[in-house]
Amino acid sequence: MNSLASLHSFGFPLLAHDVMSVNVAADLQAQLSQLNNTAFYILGEGSNTVFLEDYQGTIIKPAFMGVDLVHTDTHYLLKVGASENWHKLVLWCIQHQIYGFENLALIPGTVGAAPIQNIGAYGVEIKQFIHQVDYYDLSEQTHKSLDSLSCEFAYRDSIFKQRLAGQIVITGVTFIIPKRWEAVMHYGELKELIEPCAIDIFNKVVQVRQDKLPDPSKIGNAGSFFKNPVIAMGQYNKLQQTWPSIPSYFVDSNNVKVPAAWLIDQLGFKGKKIGGIGCHPDQALVLTNDGSGTGEQLLQLARNIRDTVFNEFSIIIENEVRLIGKNGPVAL
Ligand code: FAD
Ligand code: EPU
Repeated sequence: MNSLASLHSFGFPLLAHDVMSVNVAADLQAQLSQLNNTAFYILGEGSNTVFLEDYQGTIIKPAFMGVDLVHTDTHYLLKVGASENWHKLVLWCIQHQIYGFENLALIPGTVGAAPIQNIGAYGVEIKQFIHQVDYYDLSEQTHKSLDSLSCEFAYRDSIFKQRLAGQIVITGVTFIIPKRWEAVMHYGELKELIEPCAIDIFNKVVQVRQDKLPDPSKIGNAGSFFKNPVIAMGQYNKLQQTWPSIPSYFVDSNNVKVPAAWLIDQLGFKGKKIGGIGCHPDQALVLTNDGSGTGEQLLQLARNIRDTVFNEFSIIIENEVRLIGKNGPVAL
């Protein structure tokens, strides 16, 4: 048995039957065939995965490294191994005066996981920069690639989270970054900046994130526990009659996105705890583990929040984090 405590950012001191590292994509099939059809789970840095109990299967930890840069007249093409750390890549780009990723600074996790939920923050989503995703298809036993359009990117979603979930191992991602940089500063605190350069935006994003979000190395968490729900404009207009200050973000002429943090905050969950699991006192969308929490307590608090939001607002909120039980993914 192997400890999962340091392999996921929630930090529950659980065990996995086995952990297997793979650093040559060609070895994947041979290694997986040794598992004799027992369960396995592919894990990056575990910052969007919560193990709720001891995992009976094998954890596969890809270790595909490397950064290759190619210039065209107008763009940088950056081919990166799936297991490189995302924030280190952001820093590497800034050091090489390649700008564009600065709004996505300090997002934990690997490069390979970034396209899976189309990571996003401060007005930017990674889909804007994805040229190609390379992966190994486990059922067809072959290497494949998808271009950006075929990845079916949406808010916190992609083909890798839907049709291809559990069937592929991402080995590398190629990013395409325009040489002509444009600041994105329409979100939240970034609006305060005046004629910023990319490094000013990077510094601001880092500062805001450090102020707002708990550091997983100090207190267990997986970032936003729930996704922000998208609701019909008609429902939003109705809610505004009872809750005039309900915030929203434009999606299209028929739909708006509502911050789940605001909904949860209105219901008084901030600072509430069940055992060692808490709703963060400064960011209602983040659930935390003070070191003594359990998977069962996390499910209890998360279900209580989800059901109370539904009863009060008639809005269904869905978990963003992957919940893993003893045999694999479980629903909230
Ligand atoms: P993991 O949790 O290890 O895996 C996530 C999923 O991807 C799992 O289903 C796993 O099976 C699969 N997977 C991982 N690697 C591979 C691979 N090579 N091949 C196939 N499947 C794979 N997210 C945002 O979008 N924006 C934010 O601002 C943000 N802020 C965060 C802040 C904090 C403090 C924390 C803890 C998390 C935050 N997140 C945020 C969520 C998280 O950082 C991202 O989802 C990140 O991309 C997860 O990377 P990971 O390597 O840790 O993924
Ligand atoms: N708010 C509250 N109460 C709170 C926290 C926030 O009312 O406790 C309100 C704020 O006032 C603001 C709104 O909710 O009006 C949005 O808050 P914030 O800007 O902090 O963003 P968020 O919607 O909570 C999303 C992402 C984050 C990302 C930030 C910045 C999701 C699920 N979460 O959070 O991503 O970093 O925007 O772009 O989309 C993650 O995915 O793990 C994550 C941290």
